[in-house]
Amino acid sequence: MTDQALGITIDGAAVPCQAGDTVIDAAHRAGVYIPHLCFHPEFGPHGSCRLCMVKAGGRYVAACTTPATPGMSVESDTAEIKELRLRITQMLFVDGNHFCPACEQSGQCQLQATAYGLGMQDLHFSPSYPKKAVDASHDEMLLDRDRCIQCNLCVRASDRVDGKHVFSLGGRGIETRLMPNSASGLLRDTEFSAEDRAAHVCPVGALLFKHDNYARPIGRRLYDRTSIDRIGNRRADDAAPGGSAP
Ligand code: SF4
Ligand code: FES
Repeated sequence: MTDQALGITIDGAAVPCQAGDTVIDAAHRAGVYIPHLCFHPEFGPHGSCRLCMVKAGGRYVAACTTPATPGMSVESDTAEIKELRLRITQMLFVDGNHFCPACEQSGQCQLQATAYGLGMQDLHFSPSYPKKAVDASHDEMLLDRDRCIQCNLCVRASDRVDGKHVFSLGGRGIETRLMPNSASGLLRDTEFSAEDRAAHVCPVGALLFKHDNYARPIGRRLYDRTSIDRIGNRRADDAAPGGSAP
């Protein structure tokens, strides 16, 4: 069977696939944006944020974990699905303490950009203001759990690329927290370095560099200039320390 014969449709448009593709792999190669936060093409699917939800065969499925099967018909850009994605995004906001105007990652944060892309105007849910400890113990990096969306990307990057196993997600449900793997539980007592791949994959402002902040001024950052749904799979971490894509 040729690659072309493995094609699917997304919102009625033909999308070619390759063997082994998930729906999001095929979509992004074809330039079709499907919102996502825990997916990154380098690290394999995690399937936790559910923002990439699409409808296939009458069921809601995660595009990042669902194989693209020949002839599959996928709905993504519908009012119903966009509203569900908006609610998921709003839940992520109230599950943390996100104060975008005061965040160093404003303009290069995928959560903020996704909210703008979905037209989010309010939180919809009551904010819970959870207590989440900040870990400022490391010389180079700050871990602000207030902004962590538990996407697991730093865990996967540290495990699979850096080979250091610096992080894990501990606790259950709303008590889940990102934890450095050290006896003290502090980042300074791990092998973590600002050079690690794990230091460059956070889609939000939870893992921040302590030095050289605001090198790229707010207003000139990736999502300040282009809506995330037009950028597709390109992310603020694609270029650079500090996440300042050109
Ligand atoms: Fe994801 Fe960032 Fe939290 Fe790590 S620190 S789990 S990359 S949001
Ligand atoms: Fe698919 Fe998070 S991007 S579940």
